[in-house]
Amino acid sequence: MFEEADEKTRQALAAWRDRPAKHQPVYPDADVERATVNYLRTMPPLIFAGEADSLTKEMARAGRGETFVLQGGDCAESFADATADRIRAKIRTILQMAVVLTYSASVPVVKLGRMAGQYAKPRSNPLEDRDGTELPSYMGDAVNGHEFTVQSRTPDPRRLVEAYQHSAATLNLIRAFTQGGFADLTKVHEWNKGFSANPAYHRYTAMAGEIDRAMEFMRAAGAYTESLKTVDFYSSHEALILDYEDAMTRIDSRTGLPYNTGAHFLWIGERTRNADGAHVEMLSHVQNPIGVKLGPSASREDILRLIDKLNPEGREGRLTFITRLGANKVVDVLPSIIETVREDGRPVTWMSDPMHGNTISVGAFKTRRLDDVLDEVRGFFAVHRQMGTIPGGLHIELTGDDVTEVLGGSEAIGEDKLGERYETLVDPRLNHQQSLELAFLISEILRESF
Ligand code: TRP
Ligand code: MN
Repeated sequence: MFEEADEKTRQALAAWRDRPAKHQPVYPDADVERATVNYLRTMPPLIFAGEADSLTKEMARAGRGETFVLQGGDCAESFADATADRIRAKIRTILQMAVVLTYSASVPVVKLGRMAGQYAKPRSNPLEDRDGTELPSYMGDAVNGHEFTVQSRTPDPRRLVEAYQHSAATLNLIRAFTQGGFADLTKVHEWNKGFSANPAYHRYTAMAGEIDRAMEFMRAAGAYTESLKTVDFYSSHEALILDYEDAMTRIDSRTGLPYNTGAHFLWIGERTRNADGAHVEMLSHVQNPIGVKLGPSASREDILRLIDKLNPEGREGRLTFITRLGANKVVDVLPSIIETVREDGRPVTWMSDPMHGNTISVGAFKTRRLDDVLDEVRGFFAVHRQMGTIPGGLHIELTGDDVTEVLGGSEAIGEDKLGERYETLVDPRLNHQQSLELAFLISEILRESF
Protein backbone atom coordinates (compact mmCIF):
# COMPACT_ATOMS: atom_id res chain seq x y z
CA MET A 1 0.00 0.00 0.00
CA PHE A 2 2.80 2.48 0.84
CA GLU A 3 6.17 2.37 -0.87
CA GLU A 4 9.61 3.99 -1.25
CA ALA A 5 9.90 7.58 -2.46
CA ASP A 6 11.79 8.51 -5.63
CA GLU A 7 14.78 10.86 -5.32
CA LYS A 8 12.88 14.06 -6.07
CA THR A 9 10.15 13.26 -3.56
CA ARG A 10 12.73 12.28 -0.99
CA GLN A 11 14.36 15.69 -1.32
CA ALA A 12 11.04 17.51 -1.06
CA LEU A 13 10.16 15.54 2.05
CA ALA A 14 13.50 16.39 3.66
CA ALA A 15 13.38 20.14 2.87
CA TRP A 16 11.90 21.00 6.28
CA ARG A 17 15.18 19.98 7.92
CA ASP A 18 16.82 23.17 6.60
CA ARG A 19 14.07 25.43 7.93
CA PRO A 20 13.74 26.98 11.38
CA ALA A 21 11.62 24.71 13.58
CA LYS A 22 9.89 26.25 16.58
CA HIS A 23 8.56 24.43 19.63
CA GLN A 24 10.56 21.22 19.23
CA PRO A 25 11.57 19.15 22.25
CA VAL A 26 15.26 18.89 23.05
CA TYR A 27 16.01 15.25 23.79
CA PRO A 28 18.91 14.33 26.04
CA ASP A 29 20.09 11.51 23.77
CA ALA A 30 20.16 11.98 19.98
CA ASP A 31 20.85 8.27 19.35
CA VAL A 32 17.72 7.18 21.17
CA GLU A 33 15.77 9.86 19.30
CA ARG A 34 17.01 8.59 15.91
CA ALA A 35 16.40 4.94 16.75
CA THR A 36 12.90 5.70 17.99
CA VAL A 37 11.93 7.69 14.92
CA ASN A 38 13.27 4.90 12.69
CA TYR A 39 11.21 2.40 14.62
CA LEU A 40 8.11 4.57 14.14
CA ARG A 41 8.74 4.54 10.40
CA THR A 42 8.17 0.79 10.41
CA MET A 43 4.78 1.06 12.13
CA PRO A 44 1.64 0.75 9.98
CA PRO A 45 -0.15 3.89 8.80
CA LEU A 46 -3.15 4.94 10.88
CA ILE A 47 -5.15 6.16 7.92
CA PHE A 48 -5.37 5.31 4.25
CA ALA A 49 -4.66 7.83 1.47
CA GLY A 50 -8.14 7.39 -0.02
CA GLU A 51 -9.71 8.49 3.26
CA ALA A 52 -7.67 11.70 3.31
CA ASP A 53 -8.83 12.36 -0.26
CA SER A 54 -12.47 11.83 0.79
CA LEU A 55 -11.99 14.39 3.55
CA THR A 56 -10.46 16.86 1.07
CA LYS A 57 -13.67 16.53 -0.96
CA GLU A 58 -15.74 17.13 2.18
CA MET A 59 -13.69 20.20 3.07
CA ALA A 60 -14.26 21.48 -0.47
CA ARG A 61 -18.01 20.98 -0.03
CA ALA A 62 -17.82 22.87 3.27
CA GLY A 63 -16.03 25.69 1.48
CA ARG A 64 -18.97 25.88 -0.94
CA GLY A 65 -21.57 25.83 1.83
CA GLU A 66 -22.88 22.33 1.07
CA THR A 67 -21.88 20.86 4.40
CA PHE A 68 -20.58 22.06 7.78
CA VAL A 69 -17.43 20.85 9.56
CA LEU A 70 -17.55 20.11 13.26
CA GLN A 71 -14.03 19.64 14.61
CA GLY A 72 -13.87 18.90 18.31
CA GLY A 73 -11.95 17.27 21.10
CA ASP A 74 -9.49 17.90 23.88
CA CYS A 75 -6.98 20.70 23.91
CA ALA A 76 -4.48 17.96 24.73
CA GLU A 77 -5.32 14.28 24.87
CA SER A 78 -3.51 12.37 27.60
CA PHE A 79 -2.40 8.75 27.75
CA ALA A 80 -4.23 8.29 31.05
CA ASP A 81 -7.52 9.45 29.50
CA ALA A 82 -7.29 7.24 26.42
CA THR A 83 -9.81 4.91 28.05
CA ALA A 84 -12.93 3.39 26.51
CA ASP A 85 -15.23 5.52 28.67
CA ARG A 86 -13.56 8.84 27.93
CA ILE A 87 -13.22 8.16 24.22
CA ARG A 88 -16.84 7.05 23.98
CA ALA A 89 -17.99 10.17 25.85
CA LYS A 90 -16.14 12.43 23.42
CA ILE A 91 -17.46 10.63 20.33
CA ARG A 92 -20.94 10.76 21.82
CA THR A 93 -20.70 14.52 22.42
CA ILE A 94 -19.58 15.14 18.85
CA LEU A 95 -22.35 12.89 17.51
CA GLN A 96 -24.93 14.69 19.63
CA MET A 97 -23.74 18.07 18.40
CA ALA A 98 -23.77 16.74 14.83
CA VAL A 99 -27.28 15.39 15.14
CA VAL A 100 -28.51 18.71 16.52
CA LEU A 101 -27.09 20.47 13.47
CA THR A 102 -28.22 17.86 10.98
CA TYR A 103 -31.74 17.64 12.35
CA SER A 104 -32.46 21.20 13.46
CA ALA A 105 -30.76 22.97 10.60
CA SER A 106 -31.01 20.23 7.91
CA VAL A 107 -27.31 20.62 7.28
CA PRO A 108 -25.01 17.64 6.66
CA VAL A 109 -22.09 17.63 9.09
CA VAL A 110 -18.49 16.46 8.65
CA LYS A 111 -17.39 14.86 11.92
CA LEU A 112 -13.75 15.58 12.62
CA GLY A 113 -12.27 14.58 15.98
CA ARG A 114 -9.48 16.58 17.54
CA MET A 115 -8.57 13.06 18.64
CA ALA A 116 -6.29 10.07 18.09
CA GLY A 117 -3.03 12.04 17.98
CA GLN A 118 -3.54 15.37 19.78
CA TYR A 119 -0.66 14.71 22.18
CA ALA A 120 1.71 17.66 21.68
CA LYS A 121 1.44 21.32 22.70
CA PRO A 122 3.50 24.42 21.94
CA ARG A 123 4.11 26.42 25.13
CA SER A 124 4.69 30.15 25.45
CA ASN A 125 7.46 29.54 27.96
CA PRO A 126 9.84 26.58 27.44
CA LEU A 127 10.48 26.49 31.18
CA GLU A 128 8.09 26.43 34.09
CA ASP A 129 9.05 27.97 37.40
CA ARG A 130 7.50 26.66 40.60
CA ASP A 131 8.75 28.27 43.78
CA GLY A 132 12.19 28.88 42.33
CA THR A 133 12.56 25.46 40.71
CA GLU A 134 12.75 25.56 36.90
CA LEU A 135 11.91 22.55 34.74
CA PRO A 136 10.93 22.14 31.07
CA SER A 137 7.26 23.04 30.52
CA TYR A 138 4.79 20.23 29.90
CA MET A 139 4.59 19.85 26.10
CA GLY A 140 1.97 17.11 25.94
CA ASP A 141 2.17 13.39 26.65
CA ALA A 142 3.96 12.76 23.33
CA VAL A 143 6.93 14.71 24.73
CA ASN A 144 7.09 14.61 28.55
CA GLY A 145 5.03 14.00 31.66
CA HIS A 146 2.81 16.52 33.42
CA GLU A 147 4.18 15.73 36.86
CA PHE A 148 6.64 18.41 38.04
CA THR A 149 9.79 16.32 38.53
CA VAL A 150 13.07 16.29 36.62
CA GLN A 151 12.46 12.75 35.42
CA SER A 152 8.93 13.33 34.22
CA ARG A 153 9.59 16.71 32.56
CA THR A 154 12.66 15.56 30.61
CA PRO A 155 11.56 14.93 26.99
CA ASP A 156 11.65 11.22 26.14
CA PRO A 157 11.41 10.13 22.48
CA ARG A 158 9.90 6.78 23.47
CA ARG A 159 6.77 8.77 24.28
CA LEU A 160 6.35 9.25 20.52
CA VAL A 161 5.87 5.50 20.15
CA GLU A 162 3.42 5.53 23.02
CA ALA A 163 1.54 8.41 21.37
CA TYR A 164 1.36 6.38 18.18
CA GLN A 165 0.01 3.36 20.06
CA HIS A 166 -2.65 5.36 21.90
CA SER A 167 -3.61 7.03 18.64
CA ALA A 168 -3.98 3.64 16.97
CA ALA A 169 -6.11 2.29 19.82
CA THR A 170 -8.24 5.44 19.91
CA LEU A 171 -8.81 5.45 16.16
CA ASN A 172 -9.67 1.77 16.27
CA LEU A 173 -12.34 2.44 18.87
CA ILE A 174 -13.62 5.43 16.90
CA ARG A 175 -13.97 3.25 13.84
CA ALA A 176 -15.69 0.51 15.85
CA PHE A 177 -18.16 2.89 17.47
CA THR A 178 -19.00 4.86 14.35
CA GLN A 179 -19.31 1.88 12.02
CA GLY A 180 -20.51 -0.79 14.45
CA GLY A 181 -23.90 0.43 15.59
CA PHE A 182 -23.18 3.03 18.30
CA ALA A 183 -23.81 5.93 15.89
CA ASP A 184 -27.16 4.54 14.69
CA LEU A 185 -29.73 7.34 14.59
CA THR A 186 -32.18 5.16 16.51
CA LYS A 187 -29.79 5.64 19.49
CA VAL A 188 -30.09 9.42 19.86
CA HIS A 189 -31.91 9.01 23.17
CA GLU A 190 -29.31 6.62 24.57
CA TRP A 191 -26.48 9.08 23.90
CA ASN A 192 -27.97 11.35 26.52
CA LYS A 193 -28.49 8.73 29.24
CA GLY A 194 -27.16 9.80 32.61
CA PHE A 195 -27.40 13.45 31.61
CA SER A 196 -31.12 13.76 31.17
CA ALA A 197 -31.88 14.78 34.77
CA ASN A 198 -30.69 18.32 34.09
CA PRO A 199 -33.50 20.60 32.87
CA ALA A 200 -31.22 22.11 30.26
CA TYR A 201 -31.30 18.81 28.42
CA HIS A 202 -35.03 19.01 27.72
CA ARG A 203 -34.38 20.55 24.39
CA TYR A 204 -32.18 17.65 23.33
CA THR A 205 -34.65 15.09 24.65
CA ALA A 206 -37.49 16.74 22.76
CA MET A 207 -35.48 16.70 19.55
CA ALA A 208 -34.52 13.06 20.10
CA GLY A 209 -38.21 12.22 20.41
CA GLU A 210 -38.89 13.85 17.04
CA ILE A 211 -36.01 11.95 15.47
CA ASP A 212 -37.37 8.68 16.89
CA ARG A 213 -40.70 9.31 15.22
CA ALA A 214 -38.97 10.18 11.96
CA MET A 215 -36.99 6.92 12.16
CA GLU A 216 -40.14 4.90 12.77
CA PHE A 217 -41.76 6.60 9.83
CA MET A 218 -38.77 5.80 7.62
CA ARG A 219 -38.80 2.19 8.73
CA ALA A 220 -42.53 1.88 8.08
CA ALA A 221 -42.10 3.49 4.69
CA GLY A 222 -39.28 1.10 3.78
CA ALA A 223 -36.82 4.00 3.53
CA TYR A 224 -34.53 3.00 6.40
CA THR A 225 -31.05 2.83 4.86
CA GLU A 226 -27.51 1.97 5.92
CA SER A 227 -26.45 5.61 6.04
CA LEU A 228 -28.66 6.15 9.09
CA LYS A 229 -26.65 3.58 11.07
CA THR A 230 -23.06 4.72 10.56
CA VAL A 231 -21.02 7.91 10.27
CA ASP A 232 -17.69 8.74 8.68
CA PHE A 233 -15.58 10.10 11.50
CA TYR A 234 -12.22 11.63 10.67
CA SER A 235 -9.19 12.26 12.91
CA SER A 236 -7.04 15.38 13.24
CA HIS A 237 -4.34 16.90 15.39
CA GLU A 238 -1.88 19.78 15.39
CA ALA A 239 1.21 18.77 13.40
CA LEU A 240 3.81 19.95 15.89
CA ILE A 241 6.51 17.39 16.61
CA LEU A 242 8.34 17.17 13.31
CA ASP A 243 10.08 13.88 14.10
CA TYR A 244 6.72 12.22 14.59
CA GLU A 245 4.99 13.78 11.59
CA ASP A 246 7.94 12.91 9.38
CA ALA A 247 7.89 9.29 10.51
CA MET A 248 4.17 9.05 9.70
CA THR A 249 4.64 10.52 6.20
CA ARG A 250 4.48 7.74 3.62
CA ILE A 251 4.20 7.35 -0.17
CA ASP A 252 0.86 6.09 -1.44
CA SER A 253 1.63 3.31 -3.93
CA ARG A 254 -1.46 4.01 -6.01
CA THR A 255 -0.51 7.59 -6.86
CA GLY A 256 3.15 7.79 -5.81
CA LEU A 257 2.26 10.84 -3.70
CA PRO A 258 3.17 11.49 -0.05
CA TYR A 259 0.51 11.50 2.67
CA ASN A 260 0.75 12.10 6.37
CA THR A 261 -0.75 8.82 7.56
CA GLY A 262 -0.96 9.82 11.23
CA ALA A 263 -4.31 11.61 10.82
CA HIS A 264 -6.76 12.54 8.09
CA PHE A 265 -6.42 16.29 8.72
CA LEU A 266 -3.45 18.15 10.19
CA TRP A 267 -3.33 21.74 11.25
CA ILE A 268 -0.50 24.18 11.85
CA GLY A 269 -0.80 26.31 14.97
CA GLU A 270 -0.72 30.08 15.28
CA ARG A 271 2.79 29.85 16.75
CA THR A 272 4.34 27.72 14.00
CA ARG A 273 2.63 29.03 10.89
CA ASN A 274 5.62 31.03 9.59
CA ALA A 275 5.59 30.41 5.82
CA ASP A 276 9.38 29.93 5.84
CA GLY A 277 9.33 27.61 8.83
CA ALA A 278 9.72 23.85 9.02
CA HIS A 279 6.06 23.05 9.78
CA VAL A 280 4.68 24.78 6.70
CA GLU A 281 7.46 23.31 4.58
CA MET A 282 6.71 19.77 5.75
CA LEU A 283 2.97 19.94 5.23
CA SER A 284 3.35 21.63 1.86
CA HIS A 285 4.51 18.26 0.51
CA VAL A 286 1.73 15.98 1.76
CA GLN A 287 -1.63 15.49 0.10
CA ASN A 288 -3.87 15.66 3.18
CA PRO A 289 -6.29 18.52 3.74
CA ILE A 290 -4.43 21.07 5.89
CA GLY A 291 -5.60 23.73 8.32
CA VAL A 292 -3.77 26.83 9.51
CA LYS A 293 -4.79 28.79 12.59
CA LEU A 294 -4.87 32.55 12.07
CA GLY A 295 -4.79 34.95 15.01
CA PRO A 296 -5.29 38.73 14.96
CA SER A 297 -1.63 39.36 14.10
CA ALA A 298 -1.83 37.47 10.77
CA SER A 299 -0.73 39.95 8.11
CA ARG A 300 -1.74 40.18 4.48
CA GLU A 301 1.74 38.89 3.54
CA ASP A 302 1.49 35.98 5.97
CA ILE A 303 -1.81 34.92 4.46
CA LEU A 304 -0.75 35.20 0.82
CA ARG A 305 2.52 33.36 1.43
CA LEU A 306 0.69 30.58 3.25
CA ILE A 307 -1.60 30.10 0.27
CA ASP A 308 1.39 30.18 -2.11
CA LYS A 309 3.16 27.57 -0.07
CA LEU A 310 0.31 25.27 0.95
CA ASN A 311 -2.10 25.53 -1.95
CA PRO A 312 -0.25 27.00 -4.94
CA GLU A 313 -2.61 25.43 -7.47
CA GLY A 314 -5.75 26.41 -5.60
CA ARG A 315 -7.18 22.93 -5.08
CA GLU A 316 -10.56 23.15 -3.41
CA GLY A 317 -10.65 21.60 0.05
CA ARG A 318 -6.88 21.50 0.41
CA LEU A 319 -6.50 24.55 2.64
CA THR A 320 -8.64 25.62 5.58
CA PHE A 321 -8.05 28.82 7.52
CA ILE A 322 -9.18 28.47 11.12
CA THR A 323 -9.54 31.99 12.51
CA ARG A 324 -9.11 32.47 16.30
CA LEU A 325 -9.51 36.16 16.84
CA GLY A 326 -11.33 36.73 20.12
CA ALA A 327 -14.92 37.82 20.66
CA ASN A 328 -13.92 41.48 20.87
CA LYS A 329 -11.80 41.44 17.69
CA VAL A 330 -13.56 39.13 15.25
CA VAL A 331 -15.81 41.76 13.72
CA ASP A 332 -12.93 44.22 13.26
CA VAL A 333 -10.24 41.84 12.07
CA LEU A 334 -11.95 39.10 10.07
CA PRO A 335 -13.12 41.30 7.16
CA SER A 336 -9.59 42.22 6.08
CA ILE A 337 -8.43 38.60 6.33
CA ILE A 338 -11.33 37.55 4.11
CA GLU A 339 -10.66 40.44 1.72
CA THR A 340 -7.03 39.34 1.26
CA VAL A 341 -8.10 35.80 0.39
CA ARG A 342 -10.84 37.01 -1.89
CA GLU A 343 -8.46 39.21 -3.87
CA ASP A 344 -6.07 36.29 -4.20
CA GLY A 345 -8.84 34.19 -5.68
CA ARG A 346 -7.66 30.74 -4.67
CA PRO A 347 -10.27 28.85 -2.63
CA VAL A 348 -10.04 28.55 1.14
CA THR A 349 -12.45 26.80 3.51
CA TRP A 350 -13.22 29.05 6.49
CA MET A 351 -13.56 27.75 10.01
CA SER A 352 -13.78 29.49 13.38
CA ASP A 353 -11.92 28.49 16.51
CA PRO A 354 -13.86 30.50 19.11
CA MET A 355 -11.79 29.09 21.99
CA HIS A 356 -8.21 30.29 21.75
CA GLY A 357 -8.82 34.02 21.35
CA ASN A 358 -10.98 33.98 24.49
CA THR A 359 -8.77 32.48 27.17
CA ILE A 360 -8.63 34.38 30.47
CA SER A 361 -7.16 33.77 33.92
CA VAL A 362 -9.29 33.61 37.03
CA GLY A 363 -7.10 33.09 40.08
CA ALA A 364 -4.96 30.06 39.34
CA PHE A 365 -7.31 28.84 36.57
CA LYS A 366 -7.09 29.33 32.86
CA THR A 367 -10.68 29.58 31.71
CA ARG A 368 -13.09 30.97 29.09
CA ARG A 369 -16.58 32.41 29.27
CA LEU A 370 -19.14 30.49 27.26
CA ASP A 371 -20.66 33.87 26.35
CA ASP A 372 -17.40 35.01 24.75
CA VAL A 373 -17.20 31.74 22.80
CA LEU A 374 -20.76 32.22 21.56
CA ASP A 375 -20.03 35.87 20.70
CA GLU A 376 -17.07 34.93 18.53
CA VAL A 377 -19.20 32.30 16.76
CA ARG A 378 -21.93 34.89 16.11
CA GLY A 379 -19.33 37.38 14.87
CA PHE A 380 -17.79 34.77 12.55
CA PHE A 381 -21.16 34.02 10.94
CA ALA A 382 -22.17 37.67 10.76
CA VAL A 383 -18.96 38.80 9.06
CA HIS A 384 -19.09 35.99 6.50
CA ARG A 385 -22.72 36.72 5.77
CA GLN A 386 -21.96 40.38 5.31
CA MET A 387 -19.01 39.68 3.00
CA GLY A 388 -20.83 37.01 1.02
CA THR A 389 -18.34 34.29 1.95
CA ILE A 390 -19.04 30.89 3.47
CA PRO A 391 -18.63 29.96 7.16
CA GLY A 392 -17.59 26.33 6.71
CA GLY A 393 -17.17 24.97 10.21
CA LEU A 394 -16.18 25.24 13.84
CA HIS A 395 -13.16 24.07 15.80
CA ILE A 396 -13.98 23.43 19.46
CA GLU A 397 -12.18 22.24 22.58
CA LEU A 398 -14.60 19.95 24.35
CA THR A 399 -14.86 16.87 26.48
CA GLY A 400 -17.66 14.39 26.94
CA ASP A 401 -17.35 14.68 30.68
CA ASP A 402 -19.01 16.82 33.27
CA VAL A 403 -16.04 19.13 33.98
CA THR A 404 -16.11 22.72 35.32
CA GLU A 405 -13.49 24.48 33.22
CA VAL A 406 -15.47 27.03 31.17
CA LEU A 407 -17.56 29.72 32.88
CA GLY A 408 -21.27 30.08 32.23
CA GLY A 409 -23.83 28.01 30.41
CA SER A 410 -27.23 26.98 31.72
CA GLU A 411 -25.61 25.31 34.73
CA ALA A 412 -24.16 28.78 35.41
CA ILE A 413 -20.66 27.66 36.30
CA GLY A 414 -19.26 30.60 38.29
CA GLU A 415 -15.73 31.50 39.28
CA ASP A 416 -16.19 29.78 42.65
CA LYS A 417 -17.10 26.50 40.91
CA LEU A 418 -14.05 26.22 38.63
CA GLY A 419 -12.12 24.21 41.19
CA GLU A 420 -14.78 21.51 41.50
CA ARG A 421 -13.91 19.42 38.46
CA TYR A 422 -11.09 21.21 36.70
CA GLU A 423 -9.31 18.31 34.98
CA THR A 424 -7.65 19.67 31.85
CA LEU A 425 -3.87 19.49 31.54
CA VAL A 426 -3.71 22.56 29.31
CA ASP A 427 -6.70 24.63 28.07
CA PRO A 428 -10.27 24.72 29.48
CA ARG A 429 -12.82 22.64 27.54
CA LEU A 430 -16.56 22.95 27.09
CA ASN A 431 -18.27 20.25 29.10
CA HIS A 432 -20.92 17.95 27.67
CA GLN A 433 -23.80 20.29 28.32
CA GLN A 434 -22.04 23.47 27.18
CA SER A 435 -21.17 21.65 23.94
CA LEU A 436 -24.85 20.89 23.33
CA GLU A 437 -25.82 24.48 24.10
CA LEU A 438 -23.29 25.64 21.53
CA ALA A 439 -24.68 23.17 18.99
CA PHE A 440 -28.22 24.53 19.44
CA LEU A 441 -26.97 28.07 18.98
CA ILE A 442 -25.14 27.16 15.77
CA SER A 443 -28.18 25.29 14.50
CA GLU A 444 -30.26 28.43 14.89
CA ILE A 445 -27.72 30.51 13.00
CA LEU A 446 -27.34 27.86 10.30
CA ARG A 447 -31.07 27.58 9.83
CA GLU A 448 -31.08 31.20 8.80
CA SER A 449 -28.04 31.04 6.55
CA PHE A 450 -28.18 27.69 4.72
N1 TRP B 1 -24.74 8.96 8.13
C1 TRP B 1 -25.43 10.20 8.29
C2 TRP B 1 -24.44 11.31 8.74
O1 TRP B 1 -23.34 10.99 9.11
C3 TRP B 1 -26.62 10.10 9.29
C4 TRP B 1 -26.20 9.76 10.68
C5 TRP B 1 -26.11 8.50 11.22
C6 TRP B 1 -25.86 10.68 11.73
N2 TRP B 1 -25.77 8.56 12.53
C7 TRP B 1 -25.59 9.88 12.87
C8 TRP B 1 -25.76 12.07 11.81
C9 TRP B 1 -25.19 10.47 14.09
C10 TRP B 1 -25.36 12.64 13.02
C11 TRP B 1 -25.10 11.84 14.13
O2 TRP B 1 -24.80 12.46 8.70
MN1 MN C 1 -5.85 24.64 23.33
